[in-house]
Amino acid sequence: MTFDSLLHRLTVACAVAREAGMLQKRRFLNREAMIYKFKGPQDYLTATDGEVEKLIRERLLEAFPNDTVLGEEEGGKVSDATWVVDPIDGTSNFARGIAHFCVSIAFVDKGEAAIGVIYQPMLDELFAAAKGHGATLNGEPIHVSKTAKLEQSLLEVGRAARQPQAGYLAMLDKVMATGAGIRGAGSGALAVANVAAGRVDGCYETHMYSWDCLAGLVMVKEAGGRINDFLAGDGLTKGNLIFAAAPGIAEELASVVSVSLSN
Ligand code: IPD
Ligand code: CA
Ligand code: CA
Ligand code: CA
Repeated sequence: MTFDSLLHRLTVACAVAREAGMLQKRRFLNREAMIYKFKGPQDYLTATDGEVEKLIRERLLEAFPNDTVLGEEEGGKVSDATWVVDPIDGTSNFARGIAHFCVSIAFVDKGEAAIGVIYQPMLDELFAAAKGHGATLNGEPIHVSKTAKLEQSLLEVGRAARQPQAGYLAMLDKVMATGAGIRGAGSGALAVANVAAGRVDGCYETHMYSWDCLAGLVMVKEAGGRINDFLAGDGLTKGNLIFAAAPGIAEELASVVSVSLSN
């Protein structure tokens, strides 16, 4: 795909993410974020998840009728031009009245993650990145942190409740032994975006889906960070473990959690 076509998609994705995020915000402030279904371990659904995904699909397919959309709630097909959509990342926060959730939209161009857009409506923060074009927060360039010591780092670390617990505590023990500070704020997409913005130094989770983290991974790479090869194997459709970190701590942290870096 030409660079101009990518940039056109980036512009449309930013507008769609803003519109979708404003819908999230209205529902959240009106206390309409009720859980009506438990999809799986610690995986909740509100009426707004489906409503927002429908809006995003309509807007993207209106603008790019030949592209396909793969979304958390409605599924979809992978093609040479695939949008990967999480209508609400952080639904558990959203439904519990915690204002830490977002819209996440990535674009995959012939198997390569090329665009990432994440919008946090409660803070009016729009993170955006396109391959070769850098990463921005509300239009200003962002960069990963310069942190060079794990003992001075702050990490978001997590385990998806759908994954086996075996081995997780031992891994956590090793991370804690480095002296790193640990958070788990309930939105994988914002965790990765915050690595790109230099607010946290690294992020590791045993499993995320592509709609949770792919947009953020494009940002981290463009913001100068290191990531794992998330799309390896069936990563796009089945998910994978996810790793992103500032370059000063990436190799050491990757070795502590036994992850291979891709860049
Ligand atoms: C979840 C969040 C959470 C992560 C889970 C995801 P959802 O997404 O990103 O932080 O730990 O693995 O499933 O269900 O809120 O869209
Ligand atoms: Ca979910
Ligand atoms: Ca998600
Ligand atoms: Ca979701």
